Amino acid sequence: MKVTVIGGTGYIGLVTGLGLAVHGNEVICVDIDQTKIDGLKQDILPIYERGLDELLAEAKELATITFTTAAEFAIRQSDIIMIAVGTPAMASGATDMRQITTALKQVAQAIDRYKVIVIKSTVPVGTGAWAKQLIKQHLKKPGVAFDVVSNPEFLREGKAVKDFLHPERIVIGADTKRATGMIKTLYHTFDAPLITTDITSSEMIKYACNAYLATRLSYINEIAEISECVGADIHSVIAGMSYDNRIGGHYLNPGPGFGGPCLNKDINALIHFAQQAGADVNLLRAVLSRNARQTKNISHYVSQQIQALGIANENVNICLLGLSFKAGTDDLRNSPAVDLIDQLVEKGVVIKAYDPAVKALYKRHATTVSVCDDLFSAVDQAHIIIIMTEWPQFKQLDLNALKKRIKYPLIVDTRNIINVHRAQLAGFVYKGIGIADRSALEIMDAAL
Ligand code: UGA
Repeated sequence: MKVTVIGGTGYIGLVTGLGLAVHGNEVICVDIDQTKIDGLKQDILPIYERGLDELLAEAKELATITFTTAAEFAIRQSDIIMIAVGTPAMASGATDMRQITTALKQVAQAIDRYKVIVIKSTVPVGTGAWAKQLIKQHLKKPGVAFDVVSNPEFLREGKAVKDFLHPERIVIGADTKRATGMIKTLYHTFDAPLITTDITSSEMIKYACNAYLATRLSYINEIAEISECVGADIHSVIAGMSYDNRIGGHYLNPGPGFGGPCLNKDINALIHFAQQAGADVNLLRAVLSRNARQTKNISHYVSQQIQALGIANENVNICLLGLSFKAGTDDLRNSPAVDLIDQLVEKGVVIKAYDPAVKALYKRHATTVSVCDDLFSAVDQAHIIIIMTEWPQFKQLDLNALKKRIKYPLIVDTRNIINVHRAQLAGFVYKGIGIADRSALEIMDAAL
């Protein structure tokens, strides 16, 4: 099919455009950013995402992908227009709809025959109905037929290509058979269950999924804190939970809190529009406040340790391992590591950081944090090492080599990636999340 993706050089737009192109559709990725379009024509990707370079090469080989800034031309050529522009959060938590509005008006001005307009961007529930009205009001050719469809994305950073090519489900929210049929045809080469529903429910599915994932993480983070307080071991607790098929063990790692561009933003947006609709949002608020507590707990623990060390804050060296919001990406948006850094900076400690993918922090950290090129430079003379991102290389740390370079042997492992016994054997004081100083395992070991 002929498809135009507006916002086609962005994270969602580019993966979607290239993914559809390798499935044999004729795709035009449109963007207002001429530099990105020129770059893509020369095989320069505007974002890092595993497998995206190969996807681009494959689409080019098939000659099914075009990059352009000429939106009107692209829209006229296509049967399906996908909108994948950014929907950032505003200070109130509400979604900034300016890019969506511009894209819809552009579509309204360009369409001259029946088209299906698919909203891929994550948008507040009710956007589909609003979009229909907006397009109608701005049609250059009044009376031309069109349909609006909601088709949310479920792409994870670092796994977006795989998630697109091998989706667990495809959700199609439409209110005409014609539009549903066209989107079904678009995806007929994908091996995934299709969920067809109305536009509003489809929009809600996206928020329900992200809110559930966030709730699951806040839940396990709270259970981890309780475990720590009562002397239970979170690894054993999760293992015990995971055999219950209704629960499972996936997406249940406690940590420094969820970050990234989506979960926080989407829950804030959900709270905002749910309240406007008169719904109760106490649980969702609790999910966010629990999440914010994770880095506060770590910061509090660090303060306690500094006090115990009896050193003035300005003489304490903190080494942060990992800056991105999760492994496999260089994305710093809403990263718990950045959140923790902001809290540590206030304490006036010396901070050195290392991340395999992130080479610079924000401007505000220029004078307060040194981002090192290698791990050992960051570790040198440290009093406290804090692991913030679960990069595979941090799991394999040579603790004995590390011990020789530090001033005090304390590891705060906020991702629980290092074995407590291995750390203790190497002479470290180990602090994980949900692992009490005397875990059940140690109590049992001592009793035997
Ligand atoms: C999330 C969802 O997983 C995707 O399904 C969704 O499409 C995407 O948002 C979106 O709305 O676009 P993403 O933000 O890439 O994807 O990252 P996740 O892998 O879900 O991780 C989110 C945060 O939770 C990260 O900070 C991660 O470190 C944390 N996390 C995840 C944990 O602390 N523990 C876990 O067990 C899993």
